[in-house]
Amino acid sequence: MAAFGTEFTPDMVCCEFRDGTWSAPTVTPVKPVALHPASHVLHYASECFEGLKAYKTASGSIHLFRPDKHVARMQHSAAKLLVPVPDATALMRSLHMAVDAAKDHIPDYPGALYLRPTLFGVEENIGAAARPPGAARYIVLASPVGDYFAGGLKPLRLKVDDEAMRSTPVLGEVKTGGNYAAAMQHLARARQEVNADQVLFAPGGIVQETGAANFILVDGKELLTKPLDGSILAGVTRDSILTLARDAGFTVTERDFDVNELIERAPGGEAMLTGTAAVLTPVGTLIYKGQEISVGDGNMGPVSTLLRKTLCAIQSGEAEDPHGWRVPLSM
Ligand SMILES: Cc1ncc(COP(=O)(O)O)c(C=O)c1O
Repeated sequence: MAAFGTEFTPDMVCCEFRDGTWSAPTVTPVKPVALHPASHVLHYASECFEGLKAYKTASGSIHLFRPDKHVARMQHSAAKLLVPVPDATALMRSLHMAVDAAKDHIPDYPGALYLRPTLFGVEENIGAAARPPGAARYIVLASPVGDYFAGGLKPLRLKVDDEAMRSTPVLGEVKTGGNYAAAMQHLARARQEVNADQVLFAPGGIVQETGAANFILVDGKELLTKPLDGSILAGVTRDSILTLARDAGFTVTERDFDVNELIERAPGGEAMLTGTAAVLTPVGTLIYKGQEISVGDGNMGPVSTLLRKTLCAIQSGEAEDPHGWRVPLSM
């Protein structure tokens, strides 16, 4: 299977906002998007996106995983950026349309169909730096993805950076390209300098998240993670894992904690990254101020293993779905 995110199904879903109204979403063949060079997004980054998955179960039924959370987050991102956005019903419909159009291209579990709804400002006006775009476009691309861990589940090396910011306090909870642009230089340096896989951003010493995943520390029966205070993305996988942890009798603590506490507790515990693409990835090593700190024994621990297995069984359709997270494809 091609590398994650490099292969696309033949069709996409599109709609457009002009003169104050959204057109109805339609399915069209994937083709280049024609943009006027003065388009708002190219100059003022009026853009946000989502990432979610649809799965095919062993019996052949198809469901989307928690699409309502992604629709709500897309609307929230658009509201913060002042980009016009389709209403929740139209967004939900666009996701079902995209999955339906791609239903013959959904790989068997643990593969999935990854959906990438994207919204961007297309008003042709380079003078509109200080106001929102009056025209916008919305596209849903679909990408068949394989098992993220086909090569084996390797615990990650995280550089803990107590200075760099991946975003701003206001835009941290917004899924917009600018956040990834801001994080990139720090990640490139961490890769080059200490052979890290990811950077754990901890500006001012407060542990936040990595460039594309939330961070959770496990110590005994407690899961500790930063609260949703606007500075980090409200990850859907984060919410799923915390919910399943509570169900399994763990204590979930959402509060700020600093690098000192992390470094003190990690050697006796576990740490994980959560996100749609990889679901749950264990962290094996923290690198802080040039020192390497092993998380537990450096391998994936029992709590991470249990929570990953529990969530995957719900996503695959193998287990009951006590929280109603599987939404059957309906057209
Ligand atoms: C910055 C950031 N944090 C966290 C996440 C995880 O969010 P989710 O679990 O909704 O995929 C992502 C990925 O979407 C992300 O880009």
